[in-house]
Amino acid sequence: MGRRPIIAGNWKMYKVKDEAYAFIYAVNLELPDKELVESVICAPAIFLKDLVKREGENLRIGAQNMHYAQEGAYTGEISAAMLKSYGVDYVVIGHSERRAYFNETDETVNLKLLAAVNQEITPIVCVGESLEIREAGTTDEVVKKQVEKAYLNVSKAEALKTVIAYEPIWAIGTGKTATPEQANDTIRSIRNVLSTLYGKEVAEQVRILYGGSVNTKNVESLLATSDIDGALVGGASLDPTSFLTLVNAAFKKVKNQ
Ligand code: 13P
Repeated sequence: MGRRPIIAGNWKMYKVKDEAYAFIYAVNLELPDKELVESVICAPAIFLKDLVKREGENLRIGAQNMHYAQEGAYTGEISAAMLKSYGVDYVVIGHSERRAYFNETDETVNLKLLAAVNQEITPIVCVGESLEIREAGTTDEVVKKQVEKAYLNVSKAEALKTVIAYEPIWAIGTGKTATPEQANDTIRSIRNVLSTLYGKEVAEQVRILYGGSVNTKNVESLLATSDIDGALVGGASLDPTSFLTLVNAAFKKVKNQ
């Protein structure tokens, strides 16, 4: 059995309540079996409770961030336990927008990863390089460090419960997608880092997604590569028809295997 693909929409700070509900009702009955493709919507925190209530059999809901502490005096923050208590199954951790605008660091990413796994929430751990780094030719080195720091003190069993998203910063929201080769090469090098840390078997099992201007036109060629196990999608996940097209591309891949 190959790695089960994941198509995860990251809505970022888009949609109001009625739009969020309308999306969920539009996709719920159209999604493929979750045993074949994992379809996930990572929504703003305020929607999570309502969306989990409305999620269909084959849809799962994720958060876009959380705090790493179990509980405490952190005004405005949400813990992994709170997410779990509402049935949230995934959480995006270390998105480059949070690293750039909200002081997320490799250290907090590591703590959040551990806290999420501890609550049986699947963390989607984001890594990726800036354009400057890509042009300097040091992408693999930089991404390796991000992965090593994110997985500090993470056991083999815990690592198996995580998902990684490789999102080159220069490709996010720019319409400039990494080529399937570029994305696959970096993802393969991430797999090598996992192999060094945890052994080949773990490295072969952890799902690694690509993110950055994924759309209905480029998704198939990205998924056709050896190591890309799905996509973390911003803009193209906002429209139900477009999201379904992405999920169906993953479904087609599984069926043809
Ligand atoms: P876009 O798909 O809009 O480029 O966003 C990617 C992203 O940041 C997903 O987390």
